[in-house]
Amino acid sequence: MDGNGRWARKRFMPRGLGHKAGVDALVKVVQACADRDIGYLTVFAFSSENWKRPEEEVSGLMSLLLVALSKHLTKLKADGVRIRIAGDLSTVSEKVRNALLDAEANTVENHRLVLTVAFNYGGRWDIVQACRKAMAAGVSEADLDEATLSRHMAMAYAPDPDLFIRTGGEVRISNFLLWQAAYAEMVFSDCLWPDFDAVELDKAIANFARRERRFGDVGESGQGEGAIGSELPAAVPADGVQGGC
Ligand code: FPP
Repeated sequence: MDGNGRWARKRFMPRGLGHKAGVDALVKVVQACADRDIGYLTVFAFSSENWKRPEEEVSGLMSLLLVALSKHLTKLKADGVRIRIAGDLSTVSEKVRNALLDAEANTVENHRLVLTVAFNYGGRWDIVQACRKAMAAGVSEADLDEATLSRHMAMAYAPDPDLFIRTGGEVRISNFLLWQAAYAEMVFSDCLWPDFDAVELDKAIANFARRERRFGDVGESGQGEGAIGSELPAAVPADGVQGGC
């Protein structure tokens, strides 16, 4: 959910108001996903690296999280959203940790859409914690394989993502879902996150729907890896870079 700061700057507003607008966008996108029968939505709300930001911004994000949960949890629960948290909660404040765990507990009965909030999350952290959990569970070197490690990843309950969307114009993964996104289709949108909405989501889904997923195989066209993009209509960029909104 990149671009909150730039969205605010364009309006001569403090960055915090960009994050606040980011929460409003998130609430709408959650609804749009539920309406489209999408089963899993995972959002990068706070990365392991975001602690490097100015203290004022970090504490603002923590406060915003508490406010957002108290404002939106009841409706999310009523709409059938199950909230799950992926990330290292051992180093966040007790108040924030309890609010996140309460949100999980409060929505545990829901099944319509699993909204995973990646909080104090990093893809590398996830791989390391999965290795540690596997070792603690007594998995031997000989028994450690991809399926076993997957069972210890923070989001072991979810299928690997089909579609990976990054807003804000940057074309990189920035330590998100490194393990899980191995075969995800990437869409990079120039749209700043607070402007991202159902229309942009549909554009990304249309982009995704035109891809031929081969998972290392030659695919139905039988033309192999060299054919990337050749089967796409000219209007769809093969590199998944999508314009602004
Ligand atoms: C990156 O944009 C965004 C974040 C670090 C925070 C994302 C958080 C939300 C959308 C709100 C929901 C989450 C919480 C924690 C309440 P940026 O600020 O780096 O944008 P920029 O690149 O334009 O500066």
